[in-house]
Amino acid sequence: MSAITAKDLTPAFGSEVSGLEPRIPLDEEMIDALRKLFDERGLLVFRKTPLDIKFQAYLSELLIGNDVPDPDALYINDKFMISNREPKAAAPYGRLLYHSDQMWSAKDRVDLISLFGQEVGQPATPTMFVSAVDAWESLPEKLRAQVEQRSAIQHYDSEVYRKRAAGDTDVLVSTYETGEDFVTTPVGFTHPRTGKTILYVCQQTTQRIADMPDGESDALLNALFDHLYATGKELAHHWQEGDLVVWDNLALQHARPNVAIAGPARTLRKTIAPFPKSAIKGPTYGTLAEA
Ligand SMILES: [Fe+2]
Repeated sequence: MSAITAKDLTPAFGSEVSGLEPRIPLDEEMIDALRKLFDERGLLVFRKTPLDIKFQAYLSELLIGNDVPDPDALYINDKFMISNREPKAAAPYGRLLYHSDQMWSAKDRVDLISLFGQEVGQPATPTMFVSAVDAWESLPEKLRAQVEQRSAIQHYDSEVYRKRAAGDTDVLVSTYETGEDFVTTPVGFTHPRTGKTILYVCQQTTQRIADMPDGESDALLNALFDHLYATGKELAHHWQEGDLVVWDNLALQHARPNVAIAGPARTLRKTIAPFPKSAIKGPTYGTLAEA
């Protein structure tokens, strides 16, 4: 079998992997090596690795520990794009605040996200990452004591977006709303596979700390966000065509600076795993400038 080699991208998380041949099936030794690396590092980058949507979906399921006995039976959706070019693509423009996909959903937890650079003009807007596991581990004692027994209310609504955008009119605001569906999660959330604790609040969709007056909740969340998104903690992935980036959507959060419709083509083919029981509806978007 061919071996893979990995290079750390930051001290806390992220590895660039070389030597993967995108073939189905991968042998057991390779699968074990990739799973171990994924759980240790939270994000894997495969530079300039030509692969199709089927391999992308296959690898996504394998990395979260699922067996794929029949790769032909995988759910394949090759229209699931993040793009400023493709019709009906998600997030076609704007800046995205830090988040984990579906943190606000009671139904569909997304353990893994992958993006493949299908059409990438330069200079391409990067995707940004932080580690919420590292953020918990490095949380100052005083802050940790304040949140250890606390829960957060996750809720997807434009009011929270607007507040967190802090006047930046480029921020993309989805018109999707979770309405009455408020999800409560521990601030220190246990990762279902690795058992590590995650600082489970995000800029985009954490509405408040439960059972705390508004002003105190805002101040505490702001202190947590300052720690999570501190200078020097971010990893930027600068896209080139043919890149595959796979990450742990619970351990890491992602964001991006502004994308312009008229800017260079930026079409990223997306998979998530496990594939959700309820289909994800395509939300519509506007920026704060239009909202
Ligand atoms: Fe996202």
